[in-house]
Amino acid sequence: MLELKDITRAYELGGEKAGAFGVSFTVPAGCLAVLAGPSGSGKTTLLQLAGLLDEPDEGEVFLEGQAVSRLPEKDRCELRLRRLGFVFQAFNLVPVLSALENVMLPLQLQGMKDEAVRHRAAEALDRVGLSDRLEHRPGQLSGGQQQRVAIARALAPNPVLVLADEPTASLDHAHGGPLMDLMKQQCSESGVSFLVASHDPSVISRADLVFRLMDGRLLATERAS
Ligand SMILES: Nc1ncnc2c1ncn2[C@@H]1O[C@H](COP(=O)(O)OP(=O)(O)OP(=O)(O)O)[C@@H](O)[C@H]1O
Ligand SMILES: [Mg+2]
Repeated sequence: MLELKDITRAYELGGEKAGAFGVSFTVPAGCLAVLAGPSGSGKTTLLQLAGLLDEPDEGEVFLEGQAVSRLPEKDRCELRLRRLGFVFQAFNLVPVLSALENVMLPLQLQGMKDEAVRHRAAEALDRVGLSDRLEHRPGQLSGGQQQRVAIARALAPNPVLVLADEPTASLDHAHGGPLMDLMKQQCSESGVSFLVASHDPSVISRADLVFRLMDGRLLATERAS
């Protein structure tokens, strides 16, 4: 589904090289994969490459079998909108819009009709257990609920892959596990895959696949038993 092949993306600051070096891994369909590693190990760098937000110096990214990392920006933008979903640490919800309106946004960008947009957005919020919070604004929701809205927004366009950078970092421990369980449920129900960057043990322990990074290199790939 997603394959990174011999990816190198080097940043040079003051003669010191950092980033990602010769990283290869595959995320199959319906899989919850975690990029794990200490701060500065290259998790965000790799997520940005997988999310077509950045281009590698060397190597190639394959999405659904297609080489995508050097496509023109217009095509990458289209893929981001239609095939990928994004969840951020700070949720990035629009504060003046309701939960429903936040989830409607990417569907409206796709040019979908208003009636269908509403229906699909309400459905996505139902999938994350928030059908009783459609009209609440982000400020009226708990941190865990806001992150659920962000996941519903990422899932609403039916992407094949959702990329999440430290999605539990703004939540207390009680919320990290349930959020991962919710993502796993989506994997098995709709076949979507997640690639999550995290150093949260409650996230790593629930993954189907763990890619261990250190200094921009892939140390090990671990599969859940
Ligand atoms: N735009 C940039 N310019 C220069 N160096 C960068 C840039 N982005 C990342 N780096 C460097 O690349 C290395 C990897 O950064 P990255 O953000 O991928 O780490 P990370 O694993 O996500 O860390 P964290 O857990 O703190 O989020 C770091 O040493 C960082 O300083
Ligand atoms: Mg990071």
